[in-house]
Amino acid sequence: MTTFWSWYITLLTSGTILALLWLIFATRKGQRPEATEDTVGHAFDGIEEYDNPLPKWWFMLFLGTIIFAIGYLVLYPGMGNWKGLLPGYTEVKEGKPFENGQAGWTGVHQWEKEMDRAEQQYGPLYAKYAAMPVEEVAKDPQALKMGGRLFASNCSVCHGSDAKGAYGFPNLTDKDWLYGGEAATIKTTILKGRQGAMPAWLAVIGEDGIKNVAGYVRSLSGLKNPDGIDLAAGQEIFKANCVACHGPEGKGTQALGAPNLSDKIWLYGSSFNQVQQTLRYGRNGRMPAQEEHLGNDKVHLLAAYVYSLSQQPAGAEK
Ligand code: HEC
Ligand code: HEC
Repeated sequence: MTTFWSWYITLLTSGTILALLWLIFATRKGQRPEATEDTVGHAFDGIEEYDNPLPKWWFMLFLGTIIFAIGYLVLYPGMGNWKGLLPGYTEVKEGKPFENGQAGWTGVHQWEKEMDRAEQQYGPLYAKYAAMPVEEVAKDPQALKMGGRLFASNCSVCHGSDAKGAYGFPNLTDKDWLYGGEAATIKTTILKGRQGAMPAWLAVIGEDGIKNVAGYVRSLSGLKNPDGIDLAAGQEIFKANCVACHGPEGKGTQALGAPNLSDKIWLYGSSFNQVQQTLRYGRNGRMPAQEEHLGNDKVHLLAAYVYSLSQQPAGAEK
């Protein structure tokens, strides 16, 4: 910031604070020393106002905010080029000082400091778990606690805090897997991400085709269909177009992330309308890759956590 703007901000800020101080003392000066029954003389819709001094607590509160503001401006950077009295983060990382090692407190410095501390504290622990097979880690209560916390902050936005998923986001606690529930597969899913590719069929089979094959697919899991659906025609369409990915019995192919259509678990809803919608326009669920963002060690813990969720005894799942 140039000297001019620095002074501009400094003078404007301190000027405002001084003006407020003056204002509050000046208003107080003209007031009566104690409470009275007199009114200030005006009435609004019959409501009048006593001519009383400002309550003391109110006055002190106002004063307090001004003192707080002055303290804040002295301690923290922000007023022009002033760096604040709080110490900056000048520690050395990997032999060189921080790139942005400017003096004074900044949120970035504080964050880096805390990350460093966490790294020192948890680094060895992460390394220990990363060297163990996922299945073993999944039996360690402390590891599961760490994994659970990672899940809450990185995955729950999509999969839900209980990992039971939502429309378009798979439930991770059941035994129905798009891509497979083996520990190694789960880890790959999280590390590399996944991209579901269900093609759109409207242009290929037309509205009638959509209707019939939607009915057929729903019949695979025993759902009742509306009248007027030709299931045999639906089955023909299925044989010609869908078995390559969903398998001859509609049981799915995990290598492709093509879901099992014969169970009662639906990613995009089971109603006749929803299934038709899926078929008309296709679906492209995307699980974002975490390798770069979280790194192998954290993903390892997450894989163990997710793996553990479906290992619970039957009845614990929905
Ligand atoms: C932006 C939303 C989003 C976030 C964040 C997200 N996921 Fe996913 N995840 C998905 C979607 C969507 C799918 C399904 C992909 C598909 O339809 O092919 C998925 C699939 C998965 C699967 C495969 C499930 C199966 O049935 O095979 C696993 C395991 C998984 N996610 C774990 C995680 C973990 C662990 C995290 C946190 C690091 C995470 N996800 C974060 C959206 C998300
Ligand atoms: C290229 C492989 C492929 C073909 C061919 C294919 N699908 Fe899919 N299908 C998928 C994938 C992958 C998904 C999961 C999409 C996602 O995760 O976002 C899916 C999802 C679905 C779903 C949603 C399931 C749910 O749980 O909500 C239905 C229904 C479906 N397919 C039916 C069909 C029908 C009927 C056909 C033939 C007309 C067909 N699919 C052809 C790969 C395919």
